[in-house]
Amino acid sequence: MRKAIYAGSFDPVTLGHLDIIKRAAKLFDVLVVAALENPNKNALFTVEERKEHLEIVTRDLKNVEVASFRGLLADFAKEIGASVTVRGLRNAVDFAAEYQMFLINRKLGKDMETIFLAADEEHLSVSSTNTKEVAVFGGNIDFMVPPEIKPFIIEKYKK
Ligand code: PNS
Repeated sequence: MRKAIYAGSFDPVTLGHLDIIKRAAKLFDVLVVAALENPNKNALFTVEERKEHLEIVTRDLKNVEVASFRGLLADFAKEIGASVTVRGLRNAVDFAAEYQMFLINRKLGKDMETIFLAADEEHLSVSSTNTKEVAVFGGNIDFMVPPEIKPFIIEKYKK
């Protein structure tokens, strides 16, 4: 059975993430989408909230499982039996960072492979950071996040 992991902060999950999830799910028997619990990062959403959002947007994808993890991706991938990590690439800046991460993950997880999926052109400007930057000023985020997630973001910035 081919199991892959797509890890990220997903703070919040975007339409770009969802596109990668849908496309990666077609390539593997099981795709585990895992939200990183990072105590050092000042996240908008708790890891429980981010997991819940991932569960909502992937509910119709039968071979997708949602998880959260702490620590190293290579360790978590090994723990759940995932041999491939999936990453999305929007541009050369992403590539530079992702290539380094690939090299590190390859040292840490000897049997782990990384595959990169190129982002759809519709999502080249979409990121969690840009979403928050626009949302904080009440701008339109319809083209950035799944419609089910938008109310959670608006609610956060009301507080
Ligand atoms: O949302 P992001 O920034 O694309 O996610 C990055 C993530 C969570 C995949 C990456 O930071 C990660 O794997 N963190 C866990 C710690 C780790 O394994 N680091 C080693 C690679 S530098």
